[in-house]
Amino acid sequence: MQDGPHPSREDSLAQQAPQVDQARPRPEPEIAVRLEGVAKRFGDVAAVEHVDLEIRQGEFFSLLGPSGSGKTTCLRMIAGFEAPTEGRIWLGGQDVTRLAPYERDVNTVFQDYALFPHMTVAENVEYGLRVKRVPREDRVNRAAEALRMVRLEGFDQRKPAQLSGGQRQRVALARALVNRPKVLLLDEPLGALDLKLRQAMQIELKEIQQEVGLTFVYVTHDQEEALTMSDRIAVMNLGRIEQVGTPAGVYEQPATSFVAGFVGVSNVLSGDAAKAVTGSAQAFTVRPEKIRMVEPETAAGPNECTATGHVREVVYLGAHTRYVVSLDSGGELVVVQQNLATSSMEALQVRGRAVRLVWDRQLNRAVEEGSDAGIDEEGGST
Ligand SMILES: Nc1ncnc2c1ncn2[C@@H]1O[C@H](COP(=O)(O)OP(=O)(O)OP(=O)(O)O)[C@@H](O)[C@H]1O
Ligand SMILES: [Mg+2]
Repeated sequence: MQDGPHPSREDSLAQQAPQVDQARPRPEPEIAVRLEGVAKRFGDVAAVEHVDLEIRQGEFFSLLGPSGSGKTTCLRMIAGFEAPTEGRIWLGGQDVTRLAPYERDVNTVFQDYALFPHMTVAENVEYGLRVKRVPREDRVNRAAEALRMVRLEGFDQRKPAQLSGGQRQRVALARALVNRPKVLLLDEPLGALDLKLRQAMQIELKEIQQEVGLTFVYVTHDQEEALTMSDRIAVMNLGRIEQVGTPAGVYEQPATSFVAGFVGVSNVLSGDAAKAVTGSAQAFTVRPEKIRMVEPETAAGPNECTATGHVREVVYLGAHTRYVVSLDSGGELVVVQQNLATSSMEALQVRGRAVRLVWDRQLNRAVEEGSDAGIDEEGGST
């Protein structure tokens, strides 16, 4: 149960795959958050269905999934804003299922920050301490310390309207950190920022988390964000967790076709198309950057898989080019190649050409074919 709710699935993968992701920390880490058979229904809507989860002390843990997959509902149940319909929630060894939000040692940072516009930055950060009647001097010191952590010294007398989006986001973070919660819950906190600022804040948030050593539970629908920041990721789909693992684990060894497609490009062959390549109808995935595209007459090595086809689509992306190849034996695969010496003209001229794809047999990952609801197939393959 250490690494997620599907031990049998992990076992079966472990037999097929070289181990890149099985290093277990010793001694046993303390569990900061535990969800046990948690479900949440709103009338007829099953928002969350039977989630089992253990989040370790000091971990940066992400809940990743498409819109409506139940991420926010899970977070709100951990915070205490929603009561689970079934199951139990534990924080640091205490059953908090029936406790009110203020009785739990957690704080939440919401996407819209919810800063008080009429208060200064310092007053916003001190607010939670004032409510708890912390003495003034202590309050001022702790707020200054929290603002230092988020690198906002010298901004304490500004109003929120006088800050950039990224600075406002950091005030919201300082306001949560000042309470020194055991667990910080963050619901798409970078969603309102533009791409460049979001990428800069991803790195900063991760640094702050490591500096303060808090447990972060981070909700996002952005796979790149989850891969960049997390120690471990739970991939959610339709109210369930499909896989829990490290970023490399869920990317390199997706357990289901949904995970393969949501965390990366959906390169799944199944049925006859799989049989033509591997000799077995078992569905498998192979990551686009692992595949070489060569002339059709090139021979493949003994430990390599190979398939011939035609380049249906070419997308030139600057640093690399993405090719969609229709296989002669059915199905299609996406290939990504770095543009080491290739210009956009050369890349685009490949469209329509007959090619052979070659990759190391060991890089195939067997996947379960589950429900693919939530995957935008076109978006995933172009
Ligand atoms: N208060 C509510 N009443 C009824 N249905 C709800 C309520 N809250 C959430 N839901 C439903 O539960 C499902 C999960 O919602 P949730 O907000 O947890 O998704 P999410 O993964 O956070 O999505 P997003 O990425 O869009 O924020 C959705 O189908 C949603 O419509
Ligand atoms: Mg949400």
